[in-house]
Amino acid sequence: MAKRRRPIKSQHVEAPGKRNRSSEVKRVGAPRQAVAARERDALDRALYQAVFEWSDDPIITKTLDGVILSWNPAAERLYGYRKDEVLGRSVSMLTPRDHAEEIPQLLDRLKRGERVEHFLTTRLRKDGRLVRVSLTVSPIKDARGRSIAAAAIARDVTAQQLAAETLARSQAQFRDFATRLRAAHEADRAFVAREIHDELGQTLTALKMDLHALPEWVPAEHREVLVSKVRDTALLIDGMVDRVRALAADLRPAVMDNQSLSAAIEWSVQRFARRSGIRCALELPPTDVHVDAGPSTDLFRILQEALTNVARHARATEVNVRLQVTPDELVLDVRDNGRGITDGERDDLHAFGLLGMRERALLWGGDVEFLAFPQGGTSVKVGIPRSRDARPALP
Ligand SMILES: Nc1ncnc2c1ncn2[C@@H]1O[C@H](COP(=O)(O)OP(=O)(O)OP(=O)(O)O)[C@@H](O)[C@H]1O
Ligand SMILES: [Mg+2]
Repeated sequence: MAKRRRPIKSQHVEAPGKRNRSSEVKRVGAPRQAVAARERDALDRALYQAVFEWSDDPIITKTLDGVILSWNPAAERLYGYRKDEVLGRSVSMLTPRDHAEEIPQLLDRLKRGERVEHFLTTRLRKDGRLVRVSLTVSPIKDARGRSIAAAAIARDVTAQQLAAETLARSQAQFRDFATRLRAAHEADRAFVAREIHDELGQTLTALKMDLHALPEWVPAEHREVLVSKVRDTALLIDGMVDRVRALAADLRPAVMDNQSLSAAIEWSVQRFARRSGIRCALELPPTDVHVDAGPSTDLFRILQEALTNVARHARATEVNVRLQVTPDELVLDVRDNGRGITDGERDDLHAFGLLGMRERALLWGGDVEFLAFPQGGTSVKVGIPRSRDARPALP
């Protein structure tokens, strides 16, 4: 009767195996598993074949002696050789002469079962052109884990490399340009400072002397009025002389040219304390530090920028400036107790003051760290290697 009939699907699925004894299940199941395994193998092979054929990256298999066993269409496109031109030949045909020693080294590593990843090298195309490739080479192992062959996947990074090299070149040019600009700027400042100091300063002093002589040239009854006028004007000239000297010192402090780095730092910190009203503590090495003019100027300008930033942005009441000389480097640390620089401010691409400090340090192989402390305050720490340029005076 229709009510008692089993559903067709379950009759079909449960057929012999479940109802029979276990030995029968085994007998029926084994060929099925074998078929499934064969199908899986075929699928795997088809998959590998498709990946091999359709890969955008060249894939080459080779013996552990470097004899090419297979060569995919991407390899053909990159190297320019057809499959029939390379099968059975050595991979060294793809190696430029100055890279010849790479092949035995790579093969040795593969024989030891090692994988070589992202190895950047140069290969030779059929047309004689060179290509930059990133190679990943893996050993192919047998069931007992012994390396029997190798598969190499190459990635053409010529365009990438070219872009990186162009970028590096333009960065170097830009840095060179910035350095020249800074040097020219520094020379201009020194020139203008000298002119202002010498020309204007001397003219004003001469003017003052002439002024004092003036009353002698007028009749005695007018002299008294003139003397008091001359005194007032001389005071004005004194003020101007001071201003001119300060202007010249701002442009190019004489201490930068004539004194040690320690003296220049001391002069700058004292001047900053006087002008800003911020309390300053200064720690210097016990003996004067003499550094060549280039790095000395840059360290000095970094200090000036760091101090200007404290005055403009930090809302600090105290600054600590410390110069240390270790066997390897000169370290200048400017630490304030203000609001602390934020990550955003530090990483801002338009922070040209900070950028300038980094560039100046980089020029001498050094670097600058900008740190904000959890308890408040910022530290600008510059390290410049001493090897080339620093000569601490002997005690
Ligand atoms: N000591 C400091 N404490 C707190 N914030 C700081 C400190 N130094 C720098 N900053 C922050 O970092 C920013 C970038 O500094 P940077 O010196 O590059 O620029 P700037 O001083 O604003 O302008 P300039 O180009 O004239 O130097 C500042 O605008 C400020 O917000
Ligand atoms: Mg600044």
